[in-house]
Amino acid sequence: MKRLLVTGGAGFIGSNFIQQALRRREDLELLVNLDLLTYAGNLENLLPVQGDKRYVFVHGDIRDRALVEELFSRYAFDTVVHFAAESHVDRSIVEPEIFLTTNVIGTQTLLDAAKRHWKLEPDSKYSTEYKPGVVYLQVSTDEVYGALGKTGMFTETTPLAPNSPYSASKASADLVVRAYRQTYGMPVNITRCSNNYGPYQFPEKLIPLMLHNALEGKPLPVYGDGMQIRDWLHVSDHCSAILTVLDKGVRGEVYNIGGNNERANIEIVRLILDELGKPESLIRHVQDRPGHDRRYAIDNTKITGQLGWAPAYSFQQGMRETIEWYLQNPGWVERVTSGEYLDYYSRMYENA
Ligand code: NAD
Ligand code: TYD
Repeated sequence: MKRLLVTGGAGFIGSNFIQQALRRREDLELLVNLDLLTYAGNLENLLPVQGDKRYVFVHGDIRDRALVEELFSRYAFDTVVHFAAESHVDRSIVEPEIFLTTNVIGTQTLLDAAKRHWKLEPDSKYSTEYKPGVVYLQVSTDEVYGALGKTGMFTETTPLAPNSPYSASKASADLVVRAYRQTYGMPVNITRCSNNYGPYQFPEKLIPLMLHNALEGKPLPVYGDGMQIRDWLHVSDHCSAILTVLDKGVRGEVYNIGGNNERANIEIVRLILDELGKPESLIRHVQDRPGHDRRYAIDNTKITGQLGWAPAYSFQQGMRETIEWYLQNPGWVERVTSGEYLDYYSRMYENA
């Protein structure tokens, strides 16, 4: 991994990954971040790497074929880590189409450019073996597996059974990646991680939303009975797992990522209120999300056993640091919720 294309690097997980990759990989020659700067993309998340000579930001759309081709020609990437996506389930329920175009067509556009520039054709020898030195990593999610009952865990062979337009779009993208592996010998990996938390997460997702509302003394909207279970992992551990797969992963394989940390939503909400010293009377049980998955849980034995990856954060330490970060950075939350930064981007890129 010398010449890396990261998509969606201005988002929550992508920005953490870029910082970690530049910090931990001294042999990295170049890291290009292609990001459209939707409401979820924020260059403020990347201030620590602005001065790094290996880092290049490109404002653009993964669905823009000409742009993606041009970037491959100009920078000769050997590695693609594809984060860019519409990522919020609730938005996908209201507006599914952009999830399909961004998450599925955007993935195919990147795969096509990688295929062309890495010279992977159906009749080449790379349809039966993987070309060395290049890799396309698809950042997927455990949500593609659908919902679990009270027992069991998702393994890499659990059938895909997505229940929301978001998870259906991610599962569809995974199938396109699989097809490029089978048909063109594309050296791919797919990672499927559980729910992430940590600094810089947009306050539409459970943990930052609850933190934000609690700090403002606003009601905390808990969907249904709040007994839905998610398997939480610190964002930095997700990113270290992706680096591990790039370094040691067997090409063509899927790796689940998770830290064995199942929590009911209501437990998380209570923990936040407790840490902030706010009353439980702020909790409001509201109408449940349609198609709401009851439980997710990741069996991580493949990545821990075969690749030697392990999470560094305990949930207690990770949550404490995350809460502290939001307390120390009210300006970040204020700017992303007020839309001030979107106004800034539209002015900055008016003529781009
Ligand atoms: P995010 O919503 O915070 O960031 C998405 C980024 O993609 C933003 O910077 C946005 O500007 C960019 N983007 C959106 N459409 C684009 C387009 N057409 N072209 C270029 N850039 C575009 O998302 P996140 O939470 O950081 O998630 C990143 C990836 O990880 C997603 O693929 C998501 O499915 C996956 N994932 C997320 C979680 C989680 O808990 N957040 C868990 C597992 C997997
Ligand atoms: P979310 O952060 O949207 O992640 P995902 O849906 O991808 O798992 O939601 C996490 C859980 O929290 C999910 O079960 C839905 C629930 N939730 C609420 O109860 N209230 C909220 O306001 C939000 C945003 C989520």
